[in-house]
This record gives sequence, C-alpha cells and structure tokens, in this order.
Amino acid sequence: MNDARPDAPWWRDAVCYEVYIRSFADAGSDGYGDLPGLTSRLGHLADLGVDALWITPFYPSPQHDHGYDVADYRDVEPTYGDLEAFDTMLTGAHELGLKVIVDLVPNHTSSEHPWFQAALAAGPGSPERARYLFRDGKGRAGREPPNNWLSVFGGPAWERVPDGQWYLHLFDSSQPDLDWTNPEVAADFETTLRFWLDRGVDGFRVDVAHGLRKAAGLPDVDDPQKFVSGTMPRAPMWDQPEVHEVYRRWHEVLAGYDGDRMMVAEAWAATPAATMAYARPDEMSQAFNFHWLEAEWSAREFRDVVSLSLTEAATVDSSPTWVLSNHDVVRHPTRYGGGKVGLARGRAATMAMLALPGSAYLYQGEELGLEQVEVPETQRQDPEFLNGRGPGRDGCRVPIPWSGTAAPYGNGTGDPWLPQPDGWAALTVEAQRAEPDSTLSFYRRVLAARRALAGDAVELVDLGEDVLAFRRGAVLVVLNAGEEHVPLPDGEVLLASDGLGGEGTLPPDCAAWLAVAPVS
Ligand code: BGC
Repeated sequence: MNDARPDAPWWRDAVCYEVYIRSFADAGSDGYGDLPGLTSRLGHLADLGVDALWITPFYPSPQHDHGYDVADYRDVEPTYGDLEAFDTMLTGAHELGLKVIVDLVPNHTSSEHPWFQAALAAGPGSPERARYLFRDGKGRAGREPPNNWLSVFGGPAWERVPDGQWYLHLFDSSQPDLDWTNPEVAADFETTLRFWLDRGVDGFRVDVAHGLRKAAGLPDVDDPQKFVSGTMPRAPMWDQPEVHEVYRRWHEVLAGYDGDRMMVAEAWAATPAATMAYARPDEMSQAFNFHWLEAEWSAREFRDVVSLSLTEAATVDSSPTWVLSNHDVVRHPTRYGGGKVGLARGRAATMAMLALPGSAYLYQGEELGLEQVEVPETQRQDPEFLNGRGPGRDGCRVPIPWSGTAAPYGNGTGDPWLPQPDGWAALTVEAQRAEPDSTLSFYRRVLAARRALAGDAVELVDLGEDVLAFRRGAVLVVLNAGEEHVPLPDGEVLLASDGLGGEGTLPPDCAAWLAVAPVS
C-alpha cells in the first residue's frame, strides 16, 4: 500500500514473481512444468508474500524458443494444459489474492503459426505474405539477403524460402517478424488482448516491445553486429517512433476493462528516456528497468542505479521497476561471484531492492538462492547457444527443486527437461521452509517487512564510497559492498541479510534495514 497515493493502482508497488512455466512445477511425469503444476504450488507464492505472478508464454508452440515462438495466441500448449487448466489456475491465484500477468509476444510468431504457413503457400505479392516482412533478395538472382541486419540469436536476420524470397526474423529463423503496418496484424492482436482480458488476466508483459515497427525501406546499417542489442541510437529495426501508436491503442483497450489491468514493456532502447517513453501515461503502465541487473557489485554503481531509475520513472509519472534476475540472464548470486559470497551479496542486493518504492520483479528460484547451473553442452537447448551466440540461457532455466534429496526434487516424477545438479537437496522449498536462516525464510521476512514501508521519497545518504545507503520514510537501508566492516548508524536493526558484525558494524556483503526517526 502506497500512502503517498492511496488510490494508486495495484501494480505501482507490487512484487511480481516470474514463473518460467516450463520449469516451475510439473504435475505429471514428462519433465516439463505445466499449469496444473503451477496451480498446485500457488500456496508457495502466497506464503512467500508476492502480489502477482507473470507467466512466460504457455501458448501452443513448437518450443524452438521455449514458447516465445507462438503458433496460436489464444490457446494453451498441450504440454502445459488447456484453457480449462488456465482458468483453474487463474481462479486459484485470484482466490489467494495474487494478480496474474501473461506474456504477449507481438514482434514475431512461430513459423508454424497458420499465418506463416499460409504465407509460404500463397507466394510472393499475396496478402498472406503481407502479414510478415517478405522481400526479394539482392545481387545475382536475389541470392543475397535484402539487407545486412543480423539476428539477435546469431547469423543473418533473413531466411530464404524455396520460391526465392526472403523473410525477416530478428530472432530465430523459426520466429518470423510480423509487419505491424498491416492493419490485419493490429486487429488480430486486439482480439488476443481481449481474449485474455475477458478470461480475467490482470495484465501483460509485452515481449520485445521495441521491435514491432521497422524503418521504411529496411535500410542497411553501418556496423550490423552493434545493432543486435536494441540499444544503438537510430537503429532502423528497434524503437521506431510509430511503435508507440500500438501501445496507445492497447492502452485504450485495457482502459475499457475494470480493475487496473496493466502492461509492462520489455523495451531495450538507446537511452533511459527512450525506454521510459513506453511507460507514458497513455501507453503501458511500466517498463522494465534493467540497470540493476546490468550493474557490477559496486556501491557506486548501485547508487547510480537507484538515483537514475527513480528519476527516469518520475519523468513519465510511472513507478520504477527493479529486477535482479530473469529467464534471460545469469542468476545474480552467480554474477556476484558465486558460492557463499555470491549468495550473501545476492541477499544483500535483494534487501536493498525490496526497500525501494515501485515494483520488484523476482525470478523463480531466487527465493531459494539458486545459482546458475552448468548445463552440459550436449543437453543445452537454447537457440542462442544452438546458433553459436555464446553459452545460452539454459543455466537459469533448470526446473526448480521442491522437495526430496535427488532429481527431480519433487518437480514431477519424470526426468526434468534440463538436468538438475546434485547437491540441491538443501535448497528445496521443503528443506528451507522451516529453517529460519534459509534464503527462503529470508525472502519471506523481507517481503513481509516491505509491506510496512511507505512513501515514494528516497534520499541517498553518504556513508562512504563502498556503501549504498538510503532513507525511505522511517527506514534507513545500508548495504556494504566493500571489503571492510563499516560502522552501522544509530537505529534499531529491523532486518539484516546475514549475521551482523560485533560492536554495531555491518560486515562486507551485507545489508541492513534500520528504524530511524522519520524526516520531519
Ligand atoms: C525474451 C526472450 C526471447 C526473446 C524473443 C525476449 O525478450 O525474454 O526469452 O528469447 O524475447 O522472443
């Protein structure tokens, strides 16, 4: 509850838990998580103390990008259940007071989507091809791609079809980009929005929100490799001004429903201001802010992240968002060095993040202190890895451990789709639940304490170069990112991320919340 804005919509200060559906909870024996599995574990999320869940794509899909290649936007992948299982999950979540956000993937479909299949069959110049970005090639007999753009997952962003034309795919070749200048595309997505809104979802996470419109003429770029990231200025494939028209229209669609339905943009743009433009009052509710996720373990960087993020959100009157981990990045305890130190730092960063105003997005398994798993190369399945673009993202997507002492750790009864490591027995939900010092108990304490925090005002406090310190209302948050103990200021310690040092000091890699007199 936000006392500065008593009537504020729920999402402004919600904690939202990302469910990577394929790996969260398997109700059966096929090794894949599913909707009935999620339903059976909703109690875990309510006990944890989050406000909402975001579920990664669970729609029919050949799973070349694990669901971000959608073959039917208005149904459920049989591996994950069916529409009835979705409705059961949604009702169960709502009964527990949890909001539900679903993932929408508008930049591209699967190549198995009926539209793309029809486009292949219909041939050049057809209305079926006009839903995608088909073009003739360059050079002799059109053998060269239409331009020099590269795919985010490696290699050219164009694939040739047997009749000689090429189609654009900014991601995998199984993910053809839609042509958002085509009104039929826009109309169909509106139908999809309404389909899920009518079923009762509370919002959408919008995938690759910055990609939908491309510059007219699809011009070449001077250094193609630089343009795969989405953050290059004046990129013809990303963050075109016209893309905002799409979200202004969607805003109107959502506004026609009760209950503060929301949208959060995954938008990578060249400047923070360009990213926040997706969260203007007549567009989406929020935009993901990845500054913290990209920062090193450094108090100076953290201070910059905090002030920059608060300023940016204020420029569009949105609320800030905070993320340390998600299904696309190395888990944060591993990023912070791994092992005991990585976990201690992860807990400290979490405590600082959860003290800030705005929304925090948690990723499944971080409440268990999971680290990135070293998945053997022969078992990796991420298209990023399969296309030769680095180690891939499988290591953060391994099915999470619920109970027991060996794989599949209570996550169904079959072999998990990615191998779980030995040594997770002490990290299961079952093992951590009653253990007061466990990471799970720590998350529950912090999430419960967060509910008492109030007000949007944050004031950075100077406690030295290696310390991130800020006040929010009557709480002072201190995080020690240095190598020496630092003296703790006066004030009752409300929470600490680990045992405190003797004589009122805060050890390295630790954070604390202290009660202080409110600013008058
Ligand atoms: C998602 C990725 C996905 C990509 C293509 C990203 O933003 O988070 O997991 O591979 O979009 O849809």
